[in-house]
Amino acid sequence: MNTRNTGKTAARRTFLALSAAAAALSLSACGVIDGVGSDDASATPKKGNDITVGLLLPEKENQRYEKFDYPIIKDQVGVLTKHQGKVVYANALQDAERQSAQMEGMIHDKVDVILLDAVDAKSIEPAVRKAKDAGIPVIAYDRLARGPIDAYISFDNELVGQVQGRAVVEALGTKAGTSKIVMMNGSKTDPNAGQFKEGALSELENKVNIVKSFDTVDWKPENAKRNMSQAISEVGLDNIAAVYSANDGMAGAVIDALKEAGAGKIPPVTGQDADLSAVQRIIAGQQYMSVYKPYPEEATNAAEMAVARVQGRSIEFDALTRDSVDSPTHQKIPAMLVQVVALTKDNIQETVLKDSIYTVKELCTAKYKASCDHLGLE
Ligand code: BGC
Repeated sequence: MNTRNTGKTAARRTFLALSAAAAALSLSACGVIDGVGSDDASATPKKGNDITVGLLLPEKENQRYEKFDYPIIKDQVGVLTKHQGKVVYANALQDAERQSAQMEGMIHDKVDVILLDAVDAKSIEPAVRKAKDAGIPVIAYDRLARGPIDAYISFDNELVGQVQGRAVVEALGTKAGTSKIVMMNGSKTDPNAGQFKEGALSELENKVNIVKSFDTVDWKPENAKRNMSQAISEVGLDNIAAVYSANDGMAGAVIDALKEAGAGKIPPVTGQDADLSAVQRIIAGQQYMSVYKPYPEEATNAAEMAVARVQGRSIEFDALTRDSVDSPTHQKIPAMLVQVVALTKDNIQETVLKDSIYTVKELCTAKYKASCDHLGLE
């Protein structure tokens, strides 16, 4: 599991991330980056605007990758390179071997930089080494892969788990001490899943009774549903006071399993990602919360990092990566960790609507109209 090298508080990290981004922006606006001149390709940076960014994403089952990560990165690379740069994108569909082959293909095709969101942080290491040997920088995107990574950008993943764990305890209130809960964690091949779990446990342990805990193979909702049905038959539907689910895809499956078992009222279920269907479940009172991770901030900064790295803009690159993390193979990897916020029925307006992640029209379809009206979402 990766560790963070800072004793800073979450708030301080937010400040640093924001000020790093702001510093990078203002440096580029002034045209004084690294003494090689601003956006002007003629000022002989290491590489001009005609660059190729390889983007490797892990799966499609969760909405975020194709709906936010890929399009935002693609657009931002376009903006940063006056539309001369391009993104070559491959999705591994949750298959680690396929992803290694995709990465080797990109190395063979001599892309200029790779943004890698690993299916399996460990098994991708040989490909990361190959890229390094070929002189292609690798930036770990969202999940920290092993091997010689140049930089890492993600959310503060331990904080994600803490926010989820705290939500469970708050939802149970005075009943927490006597409550039995089920934990539905993510895939063991994803270091983020370990951090979510650790963060959540730091809030849950000694406060609730965790009667069942699963590591969900491949993060797949169908596996989560099977595990939840098993928990229901072993613990008893009425004895489950809440379910900690690490993300929204699994939360949907957990809720389906509860309904199929005959649950009248759904107990508090957590999630993460602010998936459209999860936000709708929150609106309808079926899912207790999600964690809103501002994808535009993660994805645009990843694109900035990749372009800055290839163009040799080291001051901008350093400004973007003021944090640092350790992986099991490497220490002090320059990093940016973006902050997250709990998403409940009370702050839909201030989060996903304010950031234009969704419109009211998308959220408040006929099925959710009455609940939306009740929450004042117009
Ligand atoms: C990501 C989550 C996502 C999960 C499953 C994690 O690494 O941070 O946003 O839900 O993978 O793809």
